[in-house]
Amino acid sequence: MPDYIAIFFTILLYILPAYFANAAPVVLGSGSPIDSKLKFIDKKRLFGDGKTVRGFVSGVATGTLVGAILGIILPGTQFGIYPAPYLYFACGFLLSFGTMFGDLAGSFFKRRLGMKRGHPSFLLDQLFFLVFALAFGFFLSPPFVFKPVNLVFLFAFTYVVHVASNYVANRLGLKKVPW
Ligand code: CTP
Ligand code: MG
Repeated sequence: MPDYIAIFFTILLYILPAYFANAAPVVLGSGSPIDSKLKFIDKKRLFGDGKTVRGFVSGVATGTLVGAILGIILPGTQFGIYPAPYLYFACGFLLSFGTMFGDLAGSFFKRRLGMKRGHPSFLLDQLFFLVFALAFGFFLSPPFVFKPVNLVFLFAFTYVVHVASNYVANRLGLKKVPW
């Protein structure tokens, strides 16, 4: 396998906890909104009904679990990411927490911009979570992830995966809108 393909593949394994964290709430989220229906000073909802406590918790838990599983599978293979197994778990948690935090921040800005729940927003929906995941995971992450060419790959790939998976989730009836 050429080197760059192995590197891109390793980067996808690295970000996998964030992808799972981002996707889990669509299936597992429901119930009380995380903002308790509170409104911001602009009299619009803080985050809106699309951000639930269960969604947040299930996102962090699912992503962390994926990190832990990677920590069992990857050490010793050519796709090893971290120098110690517990770091897969720790960084899995940080990536997932960052993802769910970024997801909330995205909805916060969408509400401030007057967008209704579920309204599509290119940057806020597709890439905001990734920025926060990378920021939260920064200090535990391997440096190669932050090389410009790898970041470009990660953002481009994430955009394509996000669009494709939302389309599939919509066709499966998991999401009302295909974004
Ligand atoms: N979800 C949840 N809790 C979260 C995040 C998501 O329950 N913290 C669930 C909700 O059912 C939500 C669905 O996952 O409708 C899709 O998530 P997302 O696209 O992020 O939310 P939207 O409904 O589009 O709301 P927003 O406009 O605020 O992005
Ligand atoms: Mg949405």
